[in-house]
Parts: sequence; structure tokens; C-alpha cells
Amino acid sequence: MTKTMDDLDIGGRRVLLRLDLNVPLNDGRVADDARIRASLPTLTKLLARDAKVVVCAHLGRPGGQPDPRYSLAPVAARLSVLLGCPVVLAATTIGPSAEAAVAAPPPGSVVMLENLRFNAGETSKNDAERGRFAGELATLADLYVGDGFGAVRRRHASVYDVPLRLPHAAGYLIQAEVAALSRLTKAVRRPYVVVLGGAKVADKIGAVGGLITLADRIIIGGAMAFPFLAAQGHKLGTSPLDPAHVDIASGYLDQATRAGVPILLPSDLVVAAERACHAEREVVDVTAVPPDCMALDIGPHSARSFAADLATARTVFWNGPMGVFELAPYSAGTRAVVRGLTASDAFTVVSGGDTAAALHALGVAESAFGYVSAGGGASLDFVEGRPLPGLTALEAPNSPRNRDEGSG
Ligand code: 3PG
Repeated sequence: MTKTMDDLDIGGRRVLLRLDLNVPLNDGRVADDARIRASLPTLTKLLARDAKVVVCAHLGRPGGQPDPRYSLAPVAARLSVLLGCPVVLAATTIGPSAEAAVAAPPPGSVVMLENLRFNAGETSKNDAERGRFAGELATLADLYVGDGFGAVRRRHASVYDVPLRLPHAAGYLIQAEVAALSRLTKAVRRPYVVVLGGAKVADKIGAVGGLITLADRIIIGGAMAFPFLAAQGHKLGTSPLDPAHVDIASGYLDQATRAGVPILLPSDLVVAAERACHAEREVVDVTAVPPDCMALDIGPHSARSFAADLATARTVFWNGPMGVFELAPYSAGTRAVVRGLTASDAFTVVSGGDTAAALHALGVAESAFGYVSAGGGASLDFVEGRPLPGLTALEAPNSPRNRDEGSG
């Protein structure tokens, strides 16, 4: 069973806190600080218990080398404002500079290590290389607290190997995520409807097969719908489409038919020649997308039909917007899903950075939903029942090698 922070003797000890601070930046500033705010309860608890907190996190995918574009400096600055105390950013993740920062943190401050992914060992598929990096990270602390839910799907050094080397516990965010997402896997209130959308088709399409075995219906919009519509023989003009995804979608459509699980796809689309507010746009049937146009939102008929379907659901898991919501002319489909969800009595879980960004952009309060998950891919994996290495490691008992003498 996963240990909580109450199981650790924290006072005065150095705690390596793994967070998911992978936030969007704009002009060197944090554009959406939701993930930073989601980390505050654990951080404040550790500070209240007199821990010397060493935060570690990744930002983007710098490819195992230092790259100033991916420095955590803007994140440290924002965290400092939200936390109301200095956040000292070490110049490196491990080595003398990190050791110096950890050895003598100014009183009342938090230390943050530079981007974990500036080190090839963090993401290495080679256990020994990853283990070496994990060993160095582990020397920087006495205890480990995992709270980066968005990262638990990665078998990375800071997520998987370090907790196997130090007395460890899960933070509040991970506990909250597991509690909320478990309601989508155990004793689910039915009908259970999954809504998938967004542009990251490659990341998500593999989840559809598992979701067919769990949900009563699956609604698909956004770019996620393109391979399914193409598999049904529709031509989608210049909409982005990977032929490999069309074959995968075709297999899922067959699987869903055999399982008796309807996959609801848009019947109309908002199309334009370019992804721009000023572009001339029109609503067309899915059978009539002009060859020089791309789909940028679901059409009004689809929006009404999806919202009506959601009204009858008792549990909904929503991952991914229905269109290019950032541009007002293409946000109606996503708004319709939001309206359908907020009007329903269902237990609603919203997941994914782009979905949460859509809520913020449309001015919808997170409190209108049952739960808003901080981890997109991680929540999909959890709901699908895939093992998550970061949770597996936190569930591992503290072995003689890493047992905390002070823990229960
Ligand atoms: C996320 O943004 O989903 C998490 O931070 C994980 O990032 P990754 O997909 O680059 O591992």
C-alpha cells in the first residue's frame, strides 16, 4: 500500500519532492500555473513539518542535455510568488552546484534542482544508466515524496528508481488523483461516457481499445475524430491525418461494434482554409469537407447531439477539446461539451493540459466538475488500467536498503 507523508519522520530532514511542473511558457514566463498550484498543498505541508525541501521536476523534452530554453527558472520564480518564500534554483540537477544548494539552503527557502531532463540518465531506457543518475539524485536527500502525477507513467529515474532507493511516500496530489480516478475504474455509476478530443492523436489513440472495454459509449471530437472519420471513408481535406492512425481507428471501430459500445463521431464540422480567426469558415456535413479546407471544430448539430448524450450519463471522463478552442470562432463545440457536463448530475472528471486550458480560456471554474486531473496521459493510463511505474514504485515497501528508521 502506498505510504503517505504521515508515515515518514520528516522533521529537519531533506526531502526530495518530485513534482510535475511541466507548464506552458510564453515569452519566458509561466503561461498557465495550474500544475504549480496543484503542488502547493504538499509543499506547504512539508515546510510546516520543518522539512528541507528539494524540488525536482522536468520541463519539456530537452533530450538529455542542458538547454536554456527549458530552464526551470521561470517555474522557480512563479513558485516563489505562490509559496511566498524564496525558491533557490540550483544551476544543475546533480553534482557540486546542486550539492552546494542542498547543503546550505537559506532559512525559510525551498531548493529547486535544474530540469531533470538535462541529464540523459533521467529518461534512459538502460537500467544501469538510469540507476546511476537515480543514485546521485538520492544522495541529495534523506526521504522522497512523489507528487508529480503527470509523470508517473514514465519509468524515469526521478519517478521510478529514486523512490526504490529512499524511504518514500505519496504527496497529496497523487493521493487525490488516485482517489478520484479510482471512481472511474471501480463501482462505476452507469452509463459511463468517455469523451476524447484534442490534437495529440498519437499520444491518445492507443487508449481507445482499453476504453471500449470500460465505457458504455465513447464520444470522439477534435483531431482525434479525424482517423475514425477517415476510416469510415470520409475525405477530410487538409486536416492533419496520419495514415497509420486510420488503420488503428478502423480496428477500434470494429472492436466497438463487436462489443456493442457506440463510438459517437461528429456528423458536421466547422471548416476553413486556414487555422485563423479571420479565415472564411463554413459548417459542412462530414461527407462534404472541401479539399482545400481543414476541420477546426465540430459542427452545431454534433455539438447539440454530444451535449444531449452527456445529459443522460452518470459518469463522464473527458480528455481533449472538440476543436481549436483558443480561437473564438472554433470554440463552440468545446463550449457545448462544457455545458453538457455542467448541466448533468454525472460524476465528471476532466483530464489533460489542453482540456484544463480550455476550461480556463472559456472562463469555466474547475469547481463545476467532479474532479480536474493534473495529468493527461497519466490519467488516461490509470483509467485504462495500465500499470504506472511511478505509482508502482511508491507502493513498493521500504526495503532494508531504503527503510526509514523513523517511519511506522
Ligand atoms: C505531461 O505533460 O503530460 C507530463 O509532464 C509528462 O510529460 P512527458 O509526456 O514529456 O513525459
